[in-house]
Amino acid sequence: MYNLARELLFKLSPETSHELSIDLIGAAGRLGLAERLCKAPSSLPVTVMGLQFANPVGLAAGLDKNGDAIDGFAGLGFGFVEIGTVTPRPQPGNPKPRLFRLPEAEAIINRMGFNNQGVDHLLARVQAAKYRGVLGINIGKNVDTPVERAVDDYLICLDKVYAHASYVTVNVSSPNTPGLRSLQFGDSLKQLLDALHVRQNELTMTHGRRVPLAIKIAPDMTDEETVQVAAALLESGMDAVIATNTTLSREGVENLPFANEAGGLSGAPVRDKSTHTVSVLAAELGGRLPIIAAGGITEGRHAADKIAAGASLVQIYSGFIYKGPALIREAVDAIAAARR
Ligand SMILES: Cc1cc2nc3c(=O)[nH]c(=O)nc-3n(C[C@H](O)[C@H](O)[C@H](O)COP(=O)(O)O)c2cc1C
Repeated sequence: MYNLARELLFKLSPETSHELSIDLIGAAGRLGLAERLCKAPSSLPVTVMGLQFANPVGLAAGLDKNGDAIDGFAGLGFGFVEIGTVTPRPQPGNPKPRLFRLPEAEAIINRMGFNNQGVDHLLARVQAAKYRGVLGINIGKNVDTPVERAVDDYLICLDKVYAHASYVTVNVSSPNTPGLRSLQFGDSLKQLLDALHVRQNELTMTHGRRVPLAIKIAPDMTDEETVQVAAALLESGMDAVIATNTTLSREGVENLPFANEAGGLSGAPVRDKSTHTVSVLAAELGGRLPIIAAGGITEGRHAADKIAAGASLVQIYSGFIYKGPALIREAVDAIAAARR
């Protein structure tokens, strides 16, 4: 059925098709139809970061930026749902067009620029949702907040979402907010992580619940840089790392239409780079911090490969656009088969 839906959706512009899909999935969730339309994946419960996941295959951030379709995505079978990236204040993002399909490569290029309706809107949507499974809330900074003041934006968001999230993702790896990726390095990273950790401890006391913090990184670092990030995460007491966001590389899409559009590339071409980042992190972390892998999962076996590389959980974005909800089940089955 998804093949038919995809044929129709791919006739529309990528952004129109995105908005329509969120509306439809949101409506399916509200009407309780999502579960009925899709065969549920096998049960494959896992415990990571002290949280219990129905299965290890999650929705990656950026598809449901405002939390408008949480029940719908959960109903499609995802074992966890990550919403956002959300910023303290609403912002329109970059001018359109800013989203491009490269179907020959099962890839997407985007320079959305954290278009979102702000953290208060997102929280209203979370409160309206019926979903009680694992919900990640991914936080970022407004584009007009100077990067030297980025910490303020992350803390505003952390304060607001803390009571409503199963875990919080700190996004320092979007290529579409100028300067954001500089927060992945050296003193900037250390200062940010330390400030977040202090606030997390305070919020744990206030709310009587510790909400894990995951840091989402880019696939474009050298191995030495990735190793340094791993060390900083351990030192600052972070709870997980998400690897990876989109890449600035155009390897694998050279000469395809839209390959020269600015933005982050996702889907099949980022797969190996992302899995390599997972391997480097796994070697350095030695199981002390869980890894959530994202990047280029377009078939079930790619999810199993990420787990084999050292990840505990996986997330999907582009593969969902190209393959639809059946990919969730396929990925759960491949992970289960690899365990046997
Ligand atoms: C259109 C689009 C928007 C995205 N927006 C976000 C975002 O707001 N925050 C974030 O952390 N990642 C965002 N991502 C990155 C994805 O969550 C994921 O890390 C990346 O696309 C690699 O996974 P994939 O190959 O399965 O797409 C976005 C990706 C796409 C394609």
